Amino acid sequence: MTSRNPLLLYLAVSLITMTATAQETVDPARQKRVPAYSEEGADTCLRCHSGGGMRAVQSGPHFNLKNPGAPAAHHYCESCHGPGSIHVSRAHGGRGFPPLTDFGRGEGKAPREEQLAACMQCHGVVGEVRQTIGFFGSPHDRRNINCSTCHTVHAERDPIRDREEQAATCFRCHRRMNTEHPQFEAASMNIHVLPCSACHDVHRPLPE
Ligand code: HEC
Ligand code: HEC
Ligand code: HEC
Ligand code: HEC
Ligand code: HEC
Ligand code: HEC
Repeated sequence: MTSRNPLLLYLAVSLITMTATAQETVDPARQKRVPAYSEEGADTCLRCHSGGGMRAVQSGPHFNLKNPGAPAAHHYCESCHGPGSIHVSRAHGGRGFPPLTDFGRGEGKAPREEQLAACMQCHGVVGEVRQTIGFFGSPHDRRNINCSTCHTVHAERDPIRDREEQAATCFRCHRRMNTEHPQFEAASMNIHVLPCSACHDVHRPLPE
């Protein structure tokens, strides 16, 4: 709809002029709003993010240089967190625009779809050198639970692989199952010595 109101037309024109003037005064580096992958692998990132478990990810399967499907064979940290050229530029001191993919739940984290897509770009692909999982449509997906709710990638070994740690993660939400899980005595099974994942593939939709 074209505006025939002279005041609106004036406002529109001055807005365009103002925007143009503002752009001219901006540092040219900042105008590159399309981030690229950095060329130095993880080194650039680790210069600043050297605390906590940051380096531990390098001892895990995602940094296995022999695996052509691993992030280390692609863009290292940025395979999961997204291209970081703007983020790392000194001018922004890490407060780059747009933000990198930040995993987890709650305010300030990346949208859930973005988080899932970051993992599923590899883990949903058949025929590559990686463990392929389903996930979409599973009970946990339908209840908006994210990969990082159960998985820790900034670790040498994901604690979910440990039976007790795994059960503790599950019991955070399925507390009743600690005491009220169905028992299978007839088959001589003690569910408390088996990992939950021996029987449940939590990524898969339930069979009807
Ligand atoms: C110059 C130092 C610096 C470098 C280099 C750097 N970061 Fe950051 N990064 C920061 C700071 C500071 C924050 C916190 C920003 C905030 O709270 O607004 C941050 C925040 C983050 C976050 C949280 C999400 C966000 O955007 O706020 C992620 C993920 C991240 N960095 C990953 C990376 C990766 C991956 C690299 C390498 C490509 C990298 N960083 C390189 C300083 C840096
Ligand atoms: C396989 C995907 C993956 C790779 C590779 C990866 N990260 Fe992460 N990163 C995550 C996830 C998921 C989290 C959330 C915490 C967790 O699960 O440990 C996270 C958390 C972070 C955070 C904390 C952001 C916040 O919320 O404060 C920073 C910073 C970060 N990663 C930087 C890096 C750097 C630097 C590297 C490379 C050395 C790297 N990441 C490699 C997936 C990845
Ligand atoms: C660039 C591809 C790529 C991306 C992105 C990626 N992964 Fe992986 N992931 C791999 C490969 C390759 C392996 C090793 C598979 C193997 O050893 O068979 C792996 C292994 C794993 C494992 C098994 C860990 C173990 O101890 O063996 C988990 C869990 C996992 N990834 C979770 C994630 C999560 C969560 C994300 C997103 C935050 C993610 N991955 C992103 C490629 C990727
Ligand atoms: C409700 C918790 C939970 C959620 C959510 C979850 N996982 Fe898992 N995942 C597990 C458990 C448990 C295992 C089995 C660990 C073991 O081997 O003991 C596993 C194993 C894996 C493996 C190793 C391959 C295999 O089948 O053993 C990969 C890769 C993986 N998960 C990726 C993901 C990705 C990517 C997402 C998000 C799209 C995700 N997971 C969401 C709990 C979860
Ligand atoms: C963050 C909370 C959370 C965590 C952690 C979690 N779950 Fe769940 N789980 C749910 C929710 C919510 C549902 C959906 C329940 C429903 O629809 O009634 C569900 C559904 C299930 C179901 C299907 C139940 C059914 O018959 O409908 C199984 C089996 C299950 N989870 C096992 C596990 C296992 C095993 C783990 C640990 C590896 C785990 N869950 C971790 C929240 C969680
Ligand atoms: C020996 C195999 C086995 C092991 C180990 C096992 N489960 Fe199950 N689980 C089952 C079966 C089979 C059912 C379905 C029972 C039914 O429908 O009557 C079930 C049902 C469930 C349900 C749905 C119960 C409901 O009321 O809807 C949840 C949640 C669950 N298990 C969580 C877990 C958790 C958490 C662990 C680990 C601490 C675990 N399971 C270990 C076989 C197992």
